Amino acid sequence: MSQAWKAYYDEHRMTAEEAVALVKSGDRVINSHLGGAPLPIIDAMIQNYKAYENVEISCMLTSDGIPFAEEQYKDHFHMNPWFVSGNSAKALAAGYGDLTPSHFSEIPDLLRTSMKPDVSLIQVSPPDEHGYVSLGISTDYMIVAARLSRTVIAEVNAQCPRVFGDAVMHVTEIDAFVESDRPITPAPVTKITDVERAIGGYCAELIVDGSCMQMGIGAIPDAVLGFLDGKKDLGIHSEIIGDGVKHLCELGVINGSRKEIDTGKVVCTSYYGTEALYKMVNDNPMFELRAVDYTNDPRIICKNSNVVSINSCVEVDLTGQVCSEAIGARQISGIGGQVDFVRGAKMSPGGKSIIACYATAKGGTISKIVPTLKPGTPVTTSRTDVDYVITEFGIAQMRGKSLRERAKALIAIAHPDFRDELRSEYKRVYGWGL
Ligand code: COA
Repeated sequence: MSQAWKAYYDEHRMTAEEAVALVKSGDRVINSHLGGAPLPIIDAMIQNYKAYENVEISCMLTSDGIPFAEEQYKDHFHMNPWFVSGNSAKALAAGYGDLTPSHFSEIPDLLRTSMKPDVSLIQVSPPDEHGYVSLGISTDYMIVAARLSRTVIAEVNAQCPRVFGDAVMHVTEIDAFVESDRPITPAPVTKITDVERAIGGYCAELIVDGSCMQMGIGAIPDAVLGFLDGKKDLGIHSEIIGDGVKHLCELGVINGSRKEIDTGKVVCTSYYGTEALYKMVNDNPMFELRAVDYTNDPRIICKNSNVVSINSCVEVDLTGQVCSEAIGARQISGIGGQVDFVRGAKMSPGGKSIIACYATAKGGTISKIVPTLKPGTPVTTSRTDVDYVITEFGIAQMRGKSLRERAKALIAIAHPDFRDELRSEYKRVYGWGL
């Protein structure tokens, strides 16, 4: 077997400082996010910031050690992500950053058309004996970006898992290798209280044996997963998975046996959890990372029956319109894959899309169920797409319900302290009583 790849790899191995000299002013740089972020390379670009002018940075989340959006770099890096969080939300609000709203599923197509990348920054596993590495934490838009970029810079992390799916690249597709041996950034630990348990219990009522699930990460999804030990033959086709699924995979409750596509496989586009999750997926053919234009394409999602999608929101109005990305006009996150999965679940035979959220925010002082969305609030999921809204007070079905029935059902799951006010505001705003 040819070992030519080894010579190529050795020739292109360099320090992070040398690698980031390949980035030029005016470039559009795409970087991997969450635990997949190649932190030593990002750090070297930050150290080298004075060498760059007008470098556009696009990615999803910018939390967890991605400082391009910090104000002191604004004359060098221009943030134009598809999702804002932390420092990029601040950069947008302060006027020196931007946001390109987009369904997560669409990003590979944007990269091929209107947002062509110059440089991709990825994190990969060490090469196998054939010279293949894998984007073991997060393949999402990066596998497409990398193949379109002039320059691909990879952190080769000895602790990055080797995974299956659309996450595999040959070393000859990469221009610079920066070796590291560091733990993958873990997801924050979630705290499940009685409130999350109540929401999780209602969501679990809608999950039947054989359901194929999508859910995000965090306390609510983890609480839902805590109720599923007694179910059978669950499947996963998701955007991201965290530690919550590990226990159910080990029990055999999640086995994917009834999935019509990718039967027997747990399919997602990113992993975000602890070392235990990363160990479970390492070299494990049961788990496949697929590009986000596969995992999140509603036309693919609906090929499985009984898809249940569970996502959260900022607020819901009394007709069922959902905002999941802003507080009024102030953007705090993005669309992500919410609409992709809501629509995929709706199109799936027997599918259900669930918006699950707390009844209140800010220590119980604000109802998340509101008569109308404030001016400037973007609608993330339309009222004709949402099937169920769930809070700790119950389940409100939207699909097939009239405006009056929706308002009644939503008020019934609002916090009791806000129900009278919601009823009287409804009459004042919409002109008819309930
Ligand atoms: N009014 C005012 N503030 C509100 C609010 C409301 N109705 N709802 C939430 N907030 C505030 C919270 O108080 C919190 O503020 P803080 O950080 O200052 O404490 C902040 O907004 C975030 O709320 P929280 O409940 O902690 O959000 P979360 O971490 O559970 O995330 C979403 C909720 C909706 C922002 C998140 O799910 C999201 O970004 N969704 C869109 C993308 C998506 O669905 N992807 C799914 C595929 S994985």
